[in-house]
Amino acid sequence: MPLFKSPISPHLSPNASKQDIRLALRYLITPWLWRYWKKGPHIVQLENSFKRDYPGSTALAVDSGRSALRLVLEGLNLKPGDEVVTQAFTCIVVPNAIRAAGGTPRFLDIDSTYNLSPEILKATLSKNHRITAVIVQHTFGVPADILSIQKICQDHSITLIEDCAHSLGVSVNSQPIGSFGDAAIFSFGRDKVISSVSGGMAIAFRKDLQKHLSNLEPKLPLPSLFWIKQRLLHPVIFSVAKRLYYVVNVGKVIIAVGRKLRLLPDVLSTQEKAGQAPAQVYRLPNAIAHLAIQQYQQLPKNLEHRHSIAKMYRANIKHPSQQIPPNSKPLYLRYSIEVKNQTELLKKGRLQGILLGDWYTDIVIPCSANHSDIGYIDGSCPAAERLATRIVNLPTNPLTSPTAAQQVINFINQAAS
Ligand SMILES: Cc1ncc(COP(=O)(O)O)c(C=O)c1O
Repeated sequence: MPLFKSPISPHLSPNASKQDIRLALRYLITPWLWRYWKKGPHIVQLENSFKRDYPGSTALAVDSGRSALRLVLEGLNLKPGDEVVTQAFTCIVVPNAIRAAGGTPRFLDIDSTYNLSPEILKATLSKNHRITAVIVQHTFGVPADILSIQKICQDHSITLIEDCAHSLGVSVNSQPIGSFGDAAIFSFGRDKVISSVSGGMAIAFRKDLQKHLSNLEPKLPLPSLFWIKQRLLHPVIFSVAKRLYYVVNVGKVIIAVGRKLRLLPDVLSTQEKAGQAPAQVYRLPNAIAHLAIQQYQQLPKNLEHRHSIAKMYRANIKHPSQQIPPNSKPLYLRYSIEVKNQTELLKKGRLQGILLGDWYTDIVIPCSANHSDIGYIDGSCPAAERLATRIVNLPTNPLTSPTAAQQVINFINQAAS
């Protein structure tokens, strides 16, 4: 392994540019900027960017995508027994948000786009009258059959929420994903399309949900200075750790020690993995919103890069991949392929400095609870269960160069079955 080789990876702070690292450092070391960690102009500036790009929406910037989803769901005033559809093959934070808002997750199966199947949704709605809302996820930036799902929800008069945690910048028929439902959420988490380490946006189009978000805006607390410091340190620590990753494992040690000393934030808490949403939702603080805006301004370049890398994978890798719906412009947050030797491939990759992604190797990850405890009945979503045993994701992020993508291709063609 070359000494100063950084791992090729869809995680490990995959979006942080030199500009982001400089901005984070400036906030950390410039005393006159410390008073702008919490409050400042960038929160509203970020919200205004979303209002501009999703015309007619109200926007609220919060500490994470999961918080945004929870707030939107809370606006539905769910009653005990009300069910909210989500797809199997998702992140634990989604059912956690449904339960925190007082609903019961109803997991439905996916189609070849790895998203909620409209046929299954339609069949389920004709039998089940406790379903009050549908969350449609556009997995890895490939849109669901949103026009069919939109029509089904309208026919049944139920709320449609788009989970765009993976799909900022995606469109169908030239209309942005996130503008087809009553509300939508976005994530600026560390390995999302754009990243401010943590962060999320809720947008709403329906009047009652708009009012709900507007009412919340002055009431949400800002997170602590400690919370903000962890996020500002993240790109800085990772930039050093990645360069030293294979220098007698110094980089790995830096990351492990950073986590142990709580200089770096956890992606999910132990409680979240066990099926419980965080106790508190926070407003996105100014310094972190500033990082998000800087990344948002780079979105077109970011998308173009992801497309060109995905094109290389598509042309050179023959394994089955996600199907793209017609008339859509996907983004490939991660380019996913289906293999027969998933566990072995992930391990072999690690040994060769290619850290492949494992979203999602279970119907819900990362989950330390029993499936039944989070409301999933084993065997109820066979397509999602099968996919979870086969999927691996390849990096497309801005730090993956064409040379690195070629290395990934060579590795997959030699090691994947
Ligand atoms: C499908 C999906 N929805 C929502 C989220 C929540 O995003 P965040 O990490 O910003 O809370 C995630 C996070 O990975 C996700 O994968």
